[in-house]
Amino acid sequence: MAKVNRIWNKKKWTSPKTWFHRKKKVQRWSYQVNDEYAVKARKAWFRARSIYKLLEIQERFDLIRPEYSVMDIGCAPGSFLQAIRNIVREKTIIWVDLKECKPFSYPNVTTLVCSIFDYDELSKKVLEIIWDDQFDVITSDIAPNTTWRFDVDQYASVELNIAICEFSDRFLKKWWNMILKVFKWEDFNDLAMQVRKRFDSMKTYKPLACRDSSHEEYVICLWKKK
Ligand SMILES: C[S@@+](CC[C@H](N)C(=O)[O-])C[C@H]1O[C@@H](n2cnc3c(N)ncnc32)[C@H](O)[C@@H]1O
Repeated sequence: MAKVNRIWNKKKWTSPKTWFHRKKKVQRWSYQVNDEYAVKARKAWFRARSIYKLLEIQERFDLIRPEYSVMDIGCAPGSFLQAIRNIVREKTIIWVDLKECKPFSYPNVTTLVCSIFDYDELSKKVLEIIWDDQFDVITSDIAPNTTWRFDVDQYASVELNIAICEFSDRFLKKWWNMILKVFKWEDFNDLAMQVRKRFDSMKTYKPLACRDSSHEEYVICLWKKK
């Protein structure tokens, strides 16, 4: 039996197909680990490199202020929140994600585990915290689980963002702003239509911290109509 196992293991590790996949995996992994922003984020104890994307957006559009309440959607592991909390010290910050993630121990920050597609459940949980209030800003870095089929992923990304637009109808204050992240491709116009219906102005912005090869862009939704 031991001999059979040895032969099997040998076969497994020398199969060209296996080596190909192993090599691809290692390459992808080292690409993420050695990326300039990832290294910078690790050194600064940020939870993810995406914090630099929000910092660039903030520098350019100045949408988050200390006196604003903020909802961050699709927040795990929480680097956006680290940037937000650095600005907003007292007003309410709620962050929500499908995944449970390591909480922060700030009194003004509440973590919710819920899907943006589950509107009833999410709004019930949010209203328990903010009673009948609304947010000054909604930020989102939401992304679907990638299937490595870009047509599928970009469609899922648009659907997630449309659900956030619907959530903003009830929970974002009139005249206030929202930041969305989308994989911009052939279904992007469906999202653009939903945003223009609700906001006076829409801009797209790709921070330098986004990888060149990535189709992700941020949609800056300005001045909610009603
Ligand atoms: C790129 S990560 C966000 C990174 C985060 N902004 C940060 O700075 O740490 C995208 C997140 O979207 C979340 N997500 C995907 N689908 C979701 C859904 N239906 N509802 C809520 N969150 C979702 C994923 O669980 C994932 O944690």
